Amino acid sequence: QTAPLIDPFGRAITYVRVSVTDRCDFRCVYCMSEDMTFLPKADILSLEELDRLCSAFVAMGTRKLRLTGGEPLVRRNIMELIRSLGRHLRTGALDELTLTTNGSQLARHADGLRAAGVRRINVSVDTLDPDRFATITRWGRLAQVLDGLDAAKRAGLEVKINAVALKGVNDGEIDHMLAWCGEQGFDLTLIEVMPLGDMDGNGGGAVREEQFMSLRALRADLEQRWTLIDSTYRTGGPARYVTVGETGRRLGFITPLSHNFCESCNRVRVTCTGTLYMCLGQEDAADLRAPLRASPDDGLLHDAIRDAIRAKPKGHDFIIGRGHAPAVGRHMSVTGG
Ligand code: GTP
Ligand code: 5AD
Ligand code: SF4
Repeated sequence: QTAPLIDPFGRAITYVRVSVTDRCDFRCVYCMSEDMTFLPKADILSLEELDRLCSAFVAMGTRKLRLTGGEPLVRRNIMELIRSLGRHLRTGALDELTLTTNGSQLARHADGLRAAGVRRINVSVDTLDPDRFATITRWGRLAQVLDGLDAAKRAGLEVKINAVALKGVNDGEIDHMLAWCGEQGFDLTLIEVMPLGDMDGNGGGAVREEQFMSLRALRADLEQRWTLIDSTYRTGGPARYVTVGETGRRLGFITPLSHNFCESCNRVRVTCTGTLYMCLGQEDAADLRAPLRASPDDGLLHDAIRDAIRAKPKGHDFIIGRGHAPAVGRHMSVTGG
């Protein structure tokens, strides 16, 4: 165990998000372009290397590990990594091992996740309308995800549904989703769409401007029909929660645009090639693959991580609007959010 990671703004970094693959079986319109070029296999860290990297962070004070993608469950043999990382839960070095998934492969992995020590997962479902689902994901099948959610429930995994709020796309469905989550026993988190990568093909932000919804306004609207009770529940993630009186479930709001939460940032993300991104909305990055591969000893890796955290930026400067290029050129799928 080494000294904890503290950034230049006094924030302790205890939450690491690891994108285990840049690939995904869906192509959500706000996340990827239709014709993505995926990374060559040779550039991608092996499962053993990912384990070493995650474990180095755990040794440096990380309490929460979230695997993301792309879609984490499409990575071959990913359960081996998850099972192995579960050892840090058993020693008490880690509080939470979890993942953010699109749910498509959950039916076959839910039991394994639970057995590995995962207790809670976030599943991205922006709509409960099969046709709209196929449009947003470009070809995903909602029924497959719903099967996965059933399996997760049966396996005893707590589920939180993530929905990106998109004006003119799913904004008419939020009440229905809230009621459905209540019936299913799921929490729901709404997310403001963030300007990463090139969404509308011209970098001008026109589509995002059309689709962006302020959750501040959406919350006010929901309050006309639902009893939303402020909650102190926190996960270490960016969402602020209310309890929905009518369902007893939680509703979270992730508001990078309408209410910046960078001040309490506790996280960094690592890509499947071992690049450490210090902020979702900035280009600041450090290569961890070279120090990882340079020596079987973790000394160089620890030094590289520590140096990088010393340069963590204060926060994002996302702006959504016509004429504003995305804050960063990479797609959301590179860092998994
Ligand atoms: P919990 O552990 O349940 O709180 O999960 P989480 O919200 O930390 O993770 P999840 O992968 O479900 O992410 C939900 C949304 O939050 C995604 O759109 C992420 O991009 C976004 N998000 C997570 N961390 C950050 C962050 O540091 N900054 C910004 N701007 N968005 C973030
Ligand atoms: N803005 C906000 N959230 C996004 N996600 C993917 N792309 C974006 C974006 N541009 C969400 C996914 C998933 C989570 C990891 O990030 O829907 O729930
Ligand atoms: Fe795949 Fe998730 Fe991106 Fe959708 S948001 S394309 S499911 S990685």
